[in-house]
Amino acid sequence: MERRKFLGWVGVGVMASSLPVVIAACTSASTDQSAADEPAAEEPTSEIAESPVREDGFQSFGTTAELDEKVTIVDKEAGVLVVRNPENQELSAVNPQCPHQGCTVKWDTEEKYLACPCHGSKFDAVGGLLEGPATEDLSTYEVKEEDDLVLVKLS
Ligand code: FES
Repeated sequence: MERRKFLGWVGVGVMASSLPVVIAACTSASTDQSAADEPAAEEPTSEIAESPVREDGFQSFGTTAELDEKVTIVDKEAGVLVVRNPENQELSAVNPQCPHQGCTVKWDTEEKYLACPCHGSKFDAVGGLLEGPATEDLSTYEVKEEDDLVLVKLS
């Protein structure tokens, strides 16, 4: 056999013997990709999964220790701001969206009221209008402390 033909046959043999390895590698890669596309069964999928609404309609937004440390608990996504009313230390839960044009009010720890950063409206700790241009109170929610949890009823 000529040297050139011999080398040609060796080349075909090497390619033929490596074909199953290439096919196996491709099959394995596609299986791994489909597994990566599936969501993990035990991962929480939303905020609600972490803090479910109880049978009585209340939902936990944090602990009283957390509230006392941070002064307010704010969940913009849910539209909840919880603060202690400085007059009686009771919890107050309001929707922090200003009724004037929708900016988010913040608790002013010095002045002890909710202040809108956009046009200066002011609200007391329970959402009552103190000063415009807003013409309405903030909407409020039922709120309570239970077992060191801050519980708010959104509806
Ligand atoms: Fe709050 Fe205008 S949006 S005062």
